[in-house]
This record gives sequence, structure tokens and C-alpha cells, in this order.
Amino acid sequence: MLISLDLKNLSKKFGIENFETEIIVSDFLKISKEKLLSKKFEISNENFLKLKKLLEKKARKIPTAYILQKKEFFGKTFFVNNHTLIPRPESERLIEIFSQEFLKFQKFITENQIEKNKNFIIFDVGTGSGNISIIIKNLFPELKVFGIEKSKFAIKVAEKNRKNQKQNLKFIHSDIFSNKKIQKIFPDFIIANLPYVPKKEFFSLEKNIYFEPKTSILGGKDGLKFIKKLLVEIKKFDFQKNLKGIFLEIDPSHSKFLQKEGFQIIKFYDGLDRFAIKIFNKF
Ligand SMILES: C[S@@+](CC[C@H](N)C(=O)[O-])C[C@H]1O[C@@H](n2cnc3c(N)ncnc32)[C@H](O)[C@@H]1O
Repeated sequence: MLISLDLKNLSKKFGIENFETEIIVSDFLKISKEKLLSKKFEISNENFLKLKKLLEKKARKIPTAYILQKKEFFGKTFFVNNHTLIPRPESERLIEIFSQEFLKFQKFITENQIEKNKNFIIFDVGTGSGNISIIIKNLFPELKVFGIEKSKFAIKVAEKNRKNQKQNLKFIHSDIFSNKKIQKIFPDFIIANLPYVPKKEFFSLEKNIYFEPKTSILGGKDGLKFIKKLLVEIKKFDFQKNLKGIFLEIDPSHSKFLQKEGFQIIKFYDGLDRFAIKIFNKF
């Protein structure tokens, strides 16, 4: 028996927005949204039961990225599950900010013919699904990229994305730089989107954030727990030796502290302080 799909009715039945139903159904049928809306579709009873399960998840407010197990980031599709944060547009902007600085740096070293044959190294701390590492490797294949991550489950996801996108980079399991392997590698750049939400702000965030791992979001009482740890460990392991730039995603409440630490603050498109960068004039 074939069941005719009535999208509006499905949305009503499951209490979800039309556009969410359209995204889920078009992904399920593996057709574009335009095609889905252009005519009536019929599916088997067996497939309808499968689709129903997905719509029920949406009715329980599970983020669509977790239901479909994927998220678009910087024009690429990343596998995600509930062990990883769902990549955000802010982190796309963080990559753009890094890219602008790296291009300036490349121009400078070319013009001055210095450090020509060196493979520059970047650490992406708190790599999650590997999205930042993989995009940076994609943009700048000449960079040696290391994604550092505390959650073994997230590393599995990052590894799956690395293989899917055929990129040559390494993910290392470590609490910031505690893994001895890392302590022997001196990075030229550090990019980090570590958990930064202050505890008291967490409950004012949109409710579907509760489906994402708290260990990806919460940064202790003031949100600075991991950022401070990162800065302490940069000094402890003498990483300043080679370091040319640090690029952080932050909570707006962190600006003052980071300015005192010599960082320049950059706003996101919504006008909020969201990034802190520190460029070392090592060249
Ligand atoms: C805000 S998420 C960012 C994920 C990904 N980079 C992105 O931009 O979508 C922070 C990530 O840092 C990881 N993390 C938390 N504490 C850490 C630590 N002490 N050392 C390394 N990674 C950590 C979390 O498991 C999580 O994957």
C-alpha cells in the first residue's frame, strides 16, 4: 500500500513547523525541497513508519542536525551526533578571521623570503566534529593541522568527517595540551572554540541547546575556565616560542579579561563581541 504525503497535514499532526517537515522529508526522500514542493509524493507503509520516527524526534524538539546526522558548515556537509556540538555560523566567521590573518602572514613571508620551506603548524583546540580543522586544511593544504579534543566520542566523529572529506590531518585525544605528544610540537597558530558559556547564562539559552553535550558548551562559572587553562598551558609548554597568532571564540563577557591579556576583540554580525585574537610580531 502506498501512502500519499501531505506535508501540511504532517506538520499539523506532529506539531512542527512546515519548513522543518520539508527539510526532513526532502532529506528522507533524497530530493531537493523544490522538487518536493512541485508535486505529490507517495511512499510505502514501511518508509512511512521510518519517516514518522524522524518527525516524532522533531516533535520532541531534537535539533534537525541530530535527526539527519549532518550539518552544513563552510559549504561542506559534516556528520554530527549527540557527542558533538552542532557547528555554528560564528565558527565559520572565526575561520574567516584566521584566514585573513594567515594570508597577510603568507604575503609577508613571501615578500621577505623567510621561513620558505617550513610547514607551518596549527592547533585547533576543542575540535568537536573536526569542522574547523578540516575546513582550514581544505583552505590551506600547506598547513599541518592538529585537532585536539578531550572527548573520545567526538574524536570518532571528527575522524569520520576527515575520512569522508579525504583530508590529511591528525586528531589527538587530550585535555588541552596534557597529552605529551602535543607538548613536543610547537604550533605557529592556535585556534580554539572551547566551551565558553558562563553557567548562569546556560539556562537562558534556547531550549534545544540542552540536546547538545554540556561539555561542549559550559565554561565554568564565568565561562573562562578552559580559555584560562589554554593561556596558562601555552606559557607552561613554552608554545610562545613559535606562536604567531591565537584565535578564540568567546562569550561577550570575556572581552575585558582578554583585552588585558593583550587580545584584540572582534564582533560577530549580531554586534556582540565574539572573537579574541592575538597576533605576535614574530616575523
Ligand atoms: C564549543 S565545542 C566546539 C566544537 C567545534 N570546534 C565547533 O566549532 O563546532 C567545544 C569542544 O571542546 C571540547 N573540549 C572541552 N573541554 C576540553 C578540553 N579541556 N580539552 C580539549 N577539548 C575540550 C568539547 O568536547 C567540544 O568538542
